[in-house]
Amino acid sequence: VRCALISDIHSNRYALQPVITSIRRCGVDAVINAGDTFGYYPWAQDVFELLHPIAPYSVLGNHDSLLIGATCPSVVPEYWDAIEHNREHLTQSAWDWLESLTTELSLDLDGRCVRIVHGTPDDPLEGRLYPDHEALDAEWFPSNGQVLVLGHTHYPMVEFTSAAGLLVNPGSVGQPRDGNPSAAWALLDTTSLDVTVIRVEYDRRAAMQELRAVGWNDRSIRALDKTRPGRLSVAVGNQEVDR
Ligand SMILES: [Fe+2]
Repeated sequence: VRCALISDIHSNRYALQPVITSIRRCGVDAVINAGDTFGYYPWAQDVFELLHPIAPYSVLGNHDSLLIGATCPSVVPEYWDAIEHNREHLTQSAWDWLESLTTELSLDLDGRCVRIVHGTPDDPLEGRLYPDHEALDAEWFPSNGQVLVLGHTHYPMVEFTSAAGLLVNPGSVGQPRDGNPSAAWALLDTTSLDVTVIRVEYDRRAAMQELRAVGWNDRSIRALDKTRPGRLSVAVGNQEVDR
C-alpha cells in the first residue's frame, strides 16, 4: 500500500492545495492525516473541503481538540483568536467530521500495522518526539515492522527503532519549522517500508499578504517564512512555551 502521510495542515489552504496535487501526481492508495488540521490560520472550511474528498484516515490534534472544546486551556494562548475564527467558519458537515475524530487510530494495511497519533502514544495531544531526541526506547516505540506515524513537532522524521519498528513524522503541511518553509508530506510504502519526505513549494507570499490584509496575528504570519530551524515559541499568558 502506498500511503501519503500528512500532518499539521493548520487551516493553511495555500499549502494544502499544492500538496494534494503532489499526492495525486504520485498516486497513492490511502491518505493518513496525523492531526492539527485546524488552528493558526483562517482557511479552515477551505481545508476541510479540500481534504474531505481524499477521505483521509485522520486523528485529532491539540488545536483540533481546542476547537471542539474537548480540552480547555488554563491560560488562553496567543493563537486563541485563530481557534475562535475557525470555530465560527466551519459548516455543520465539517463539525460532524471533526467531532468524529479520535486521538489514535490503528490500521491494518495489507498486514502492516500502522498506528497514528498526533503527539506520542503516552501523550496523544501534547507529546513531542523531535528528530534530535535522546537515545531512548520508550515502551511505545514500534517494533517488528510496525509503523508509528506522529505529528505535532512540525519536523519531518524517519527513524527505525532498535526493535525494527518505523517512526515517521511527515513534518507540517501548513507551518514547517525545520528551516525549509515549503510544505511537507511523506510517501510511505507499507511493503518495503521506504519513506520519502517530499517538499512542495507554495505561494506563501500570497498567504502572508492575505493574512496581513486582515490584521492576522503577526507571529503566525512570520512562522510561514521560517528559513532557519528552531522551535517556535509562543506566548501563553506571560510565559513562552514551545509549540
Ligand atoms: Fe500540534
